[in-house]
Formats: sequence, structure tokens, C-alpha cells
Amino acid sequence: MKALLINGSPHKSGCTYTALSIVAEELTANSVEAEIYQIPVNATSGCVACGGCMRTKNNRCVIDDGSAVNVILEKMETADALVIGSPVYYASPAGQLLSVLDRVFFVGGRSLFPNKPAAVVCSARRAGTTATLDVLMKYPIISGMPVVPSVYWPMVHGQSAEEVRKDKEGVQVMRGIGWNMAWLLQCIAAGREAGIKDPGVPGGEKVWTNFIR
Ligand SMILES: Cc1cc2nc3c(=O)[nH]c(=O)nc-3n(C[C@H](O)[C@H](O)[C@H](O)COP(=O)(O)O)c2cc1C
Repeated sequence: MKALLINGSPHKSGCTYTALSIVAEELTANSVEAEIYQIPVNATSGCVACGGCMRTKNNRCVIDDGSAVNVILEKMETADALVIGSPVYYASPAGQLLSVLDRVFFVGGRSLFPNKPAAVVCSARRAGTTATLDVLMKYPIISGMPVVPSVYWPMVHGQSAEEVRKDKEGVQVMRGIGWNMAWLLQCIAAGREAGIKDPGVPGGEKVWTNFIR
């Protein structure tokens, strides 16, 4: 079993990375392979709503700009779980990460991601954490991904990796994410082994009701 962890910070070894590393340590200790993927620091365009991915239906963004988007989609073909990490910027996730996530989820949200456990984590100096988590959480819960809990909202505080490691409660929460994600992956695998079917869309087809009336 394998989990992909996305570092949405431009700092390759900063606070968000440290939080993700703790999750990864716990996943590895519980027999789940963990890969931390660093999104590139150069700005990625957001979704341009061209609809190309809906026509090609090949689980790739048609704008193959060499950004993180298609790299993540390819990695998610073999990953069983996803962890998204972001620093808090003005009480929101980092802009470059949101540009990547809009495109990644618009392509893979209904095909590649359903039934794969997901978690979100954030790092901040001081505030804006729950608002950031609210935004990040919107991606997995619209995509049929069971969201992994911990013993507090998944945030760490600090301005350096050392400070994050000193945030004992934050460290425990990150460990809980890794531990619970490994547990959930094992439960899903055992359920499949026992013949329990993966959940799908009630009624078989997604219903779209646009507010045009
Ligand atoms: C543009 C910008 C905006 C920020 N806004 C906030 C904020 O709203 N609240 C906060 O607590 N920290 C804020 N910070 C600090 C970072 O969130 C914090 O240092 C974070 O842990 C850095 O994570 P990283 O090392 O992974 O990049 C901001 C930093 C930057 C660069």
C-alpha cells in the first residue's frame, strides 16, 4: 500500500514538510509506503475551464505545462491514499497549491480518487489554520475520499522545522493522521478481501441539478 503526500509549500524542508514527514514516518512504521512530493516553486496556472479533460477522459490535464498537475495525476494512479499539506498564507492555503489542486481534482476527482483515504494538514506561525483546513477539506469530500481523522484538527505551529518538532501536540496529531490512515487502508483492504464492494454513486449515475430555475 502506498500514500502520496503533497508538500504545497515552496520550502522543501520547512514546516509543512516536517508535518508531512511525521505523517510519513508513522505510515512507514505501519507498513504503508509514503512518498512526499514537492510541488515546483514556479507558479502554476489555475484551471482555465477549457473542458479538455472532460473530452479526453484520460486522467490527464490537456494543458501539459510540465507543472505538478500531471505528475500528481500519474502518481495517484498507483497511490492508495493522499495527504495534502499547505502553509497558511493570509488565513488560506498557499495560492500555488490551490492552482494545482483545482486542476488535479477537476481531472481525477471522479475517476482516480474515489474511495482512497485522504487527509489534509497545514502549518502556520499563529492563525488562519482552521480556515485553511476548511478550504483544503473541500477537495477530498467532494471526491468520495474517506477523510482520515486525528486527535485534534491537523495543524502544526512554527516558523522552522525545529519549532514544528517542538509543537508536541501538533506532532501527536500528525502521528495520529499516519496511524489512522494506515488503519483505514488495512480495513479497506480487509473489506475487499471479504467481498465488500467499494461504495459508489447512489443510483449509479451522478445527478447534476444546476440552479437555473
Ligand atoms: C505570504 C505569507 C502569508 C502568511 N500568512 C500567514 C497567516 O495568515 N497566518 C500565520 O499564522 N502564518 C502565516 N504565514 C507564515 C507561514 O504560514 C508559516 O511560517 C508556515 O509554517 C510556513 O510553512 P513552510 O515552512 O512549510 O513554508 C505566512 C507566510 C507567508 C510567506
